[in-house]
Amino acid sequence: MPGYVLRPADSDDVEFLTDVVVVVTKDQGRWPAELCAPDAEAEWRAGFSDWTREQLGGDVDGSTTSVVLVDGDRVGRHRVVRAPDHVELAGVQLLPAHQGRGIGTQVVRDVLAEARDRGVPARISVEQDNPRARALYERLGFTAYGETERDVLLEAR
Ligand SMILES: CC(C)(COP(=O)(O)OP(=O)(O)OC[C@H]1O[C@@H](n2cnc3c(N)ncnc32)[C@H](O)[C@@H]1OP(=O)(O)O)[C@@H](O)C(=O)NCCC(=O)NCCS
Repeated sequence: MPGYVLRPADSDDVEFLTDVVVVVTKDQGRWPAELCAPDAEAEWRAGFSDWTREQLGGDVDGSTTSVVLVDGDRVGRHRVVRAPDHVELAGVQLLPAHQGRGIGTQVVRDVLAEARDRGVPARISVEQDNPRARALYERLGFTAYGETERDVLLEAR
């Protein structure tokens, strides 16, 4: 199973992190039709990049955004939010060529181990239209405890 390394993201990674989210969402066929026009996609990218820069600037309490590295190459995005009463895997996206090789399983297990060491629950939100990712989290011990219009909220204790 290939290993992965997390490197804290910096401003030079913002475009890559935005690209990863766009590429994987399109690859899943989940890119919204209303964002298909070039202007709409450009606007979404700009907004996501601004939000990422806010995170990197320390404006979001407990949030760490990282680049996932495999053999030194950037292959994905990882964001974790550490709150006093839980650890949330707040985003994980791997480029399609690196999916299905066990990296995501290891990422989730590492968050579970951190939560266990701290004695707090681990949480993940997954989009309602992303049942494959939800299945992965449920296999690893997460169960649903709520939902929003967009997401299912999962927790492991
Ligand atoms: C979800 C994701 C992080 C899992 O990492 P991974 O390394 O591919 O997963 P693993 O190889 O450890 O485990 C395979 C399982 O992951 C899930 N998975 C694999 N590819 C996936 C994809 N494109 N989209 C959603 N889930 C996927 C499935 O449950 C798969 O099991 P299956 O083949 O029996 O269906 C990764 O596939 C990914 O980045 N997907 C696209 C973005 C995404 O959906 N992120 C999660 C948002 S909450």
